[in-house]
Amino acid sequence: MYRVVICTLAVLSAAAVCCHADRPMQVNVIPRPTAIEVRGDGFELTADTVILVDEQARDVAEYLAQMLKPATGYTLGIRNLSGDPIQHPVIHLRLEADAEALGDEGYRLQATATKIDITANTPAGLFYGCQTLRQLLPTEIDSQEAVEGVAWAVPGVKIEDAPRFVWRGMHLDVCRHFFDKETVKQYLDRMARYKLNTFHWHLTEDQGWRIEIKQYPLLTEVGAWRTGEDGDRYGGFYTQDDIREVVAYAESLFITVVPEIEMPGHSVAALATYPELSCTGGPFEVETKWGVFKDVYCVGNDKTFEFIQNVLTEVVALFPGEYIHVGGDECPKDRWVECPKCQARIKAEGLKDEHELQSYLIKRIDTFLTSSGKKLIGWDEILEGGLAPGAAVMSWRGVKGGIEAAKLKRYAVMSPHSHLYFDFKQSKDPDELGALYKHNPTPLQRVYSYEPLPDELTEDETKYILGAQANVWTEPIETPEQIQYMTLPRMLGLAEVVWSAKDQRDWNNFESRIIGEYARFDRMCLTYRDHRR
Ligand code: ACM
Ligand code: ZN
Repeated sequence: MYRVVICTLAVLSAAAVCCHADRPMQVNVIPRPTAIEVRGDGFELTADTVILVDEQARDVAEYLAQMLKPATGYTLGIRNLSGDPIQHPVIHLRLEADAEALGDEGYRLQATATKIDITANTPAGLFYGCQTLRQLLPTEIDSQEAVEGVAWAVPGVKIEDAPRFVWRGMHLDVCRHFFDKETVKQYLDRMARYKLNTFHWHLTEDQGWRIEIKQYPLLTEVGAWRTGEDGDRYGGFYTQDDIREVVAYAESLFITVVPEIEMPGHSVAALATYPELSCTGGPFEVETKWGVFKDVYCVGNDKTFEFIQNVLTEVVALFPGEYIHVGGDECPKDRWVECPKCQARIKAEGLKDEHELQSYLIKRIDTFLTSSGKKLIGWDEILEGGLAPGAAVMSWRGVKGGIEAAKLKRYAVMSPHSHLYFDFKQSKDPDELGALYKHNPTPLQRVYSYEPLPDELTEDETKYILGAQANVWTEPIETPEQIQYMTLPRMLGLAEVVWSAKDQRDWNNFESRIIGEYARFDRMCLTYRDHRR
């Protein structure tokens, strides 16, 4: 059952949480690294420790210093590698060509009595090495206030690590319920901790349009607001400055943001603002209930394309990543069947049916995005009626869509609702958050059991599976604490699925490490669902 947990750790006395010099060294890293060797004396972080860094990775050194500061109270010095020899204990962040084997995101970490060496091919790799270092330190490091009397000890280890997949994603729906930019940044912080690198930001829906578009200010004046359950006005949106701020923050955490602008369905908030873009002309109100609605963009109307392309032009300018998500899921065809304009389009373009009409829209938008230097990704319904030439598929209705895409030699991301829908409940308890859905529960162990590469694919075809992603739809989720409850610890299960080598995945081993992580959640006053309850 979901309960609001009152955080008590912050008020524990220092005596209760100090003095762990003789604590056995436990290596408790999530996601599990490719190889760990525990050997020799460890390192102890002190106020004299200096971070040595290549100039190109200075931002990572500053991030590390900020990470270590609240709990230790230390303001660690940062020096360029090329400077004078240093007598102090050091954390060495080094970009090295011979780390080429680790790819774009891997790292090596070695801790000895005098030094922690983190080497990587890229700043991203160094950043992930720093996340591992955090987990090698005592759990007190995650306290937001200085903790006295702790030996900030790192075990003697040699770690070699690199991710299995390039797309390690978390999605967040900010439309069914709205979450401010600070909540989004905290979500990104938690993703970065577990080496997740892709944030899918679901920005438009039937129940709210959440991104400012300068050419269409009414989208957020009208489309961002609905009548709430209590009869009050409910909603909110991000200005373009907010979006730039979040994107820059994500970039500092080596996270790419993939915005989602839904079409042709799930668009009632846009149609409530511009009813002339629908088949019937409306009028409509921003939806107050959850579901799949019959009023969708009219694909027979050229104004629909003009509108979508103008919106996407602003979206493209805000998001530096490769992919733009255009939705494409759950689009009823009822209105198109009855609409003279849609039927005229089907005839003029020689299309077979309304599925091909949807495909016609996605193909036109794919051409537009390609000409804007971006790639299109959409939910697996975009396969119906023919996949657009440049499009990638996000497989949510199971894994069939991902398999079909890979067999066509097209990229796919797996996010099947059978394992990776974190809005689904975590137990059969009728009071469990997410119980509004009738699906079977998705407890941590089920998430952990997910294997992104289906047996049906040949080795060559598996290259088209970019990775996996969990989706967090927010019909049942109203508060930041509820987001935490639904994603912690399931997000850590996902992290190990997408990062760790297949032969490193072992539920019993993971379970022993996740329990250690709960102590860190407590330190951070996070709300989570202990999977043992
Ligand atoms: C979806 O869950 N409708 C993609
Ligand atoms: Zn129409």
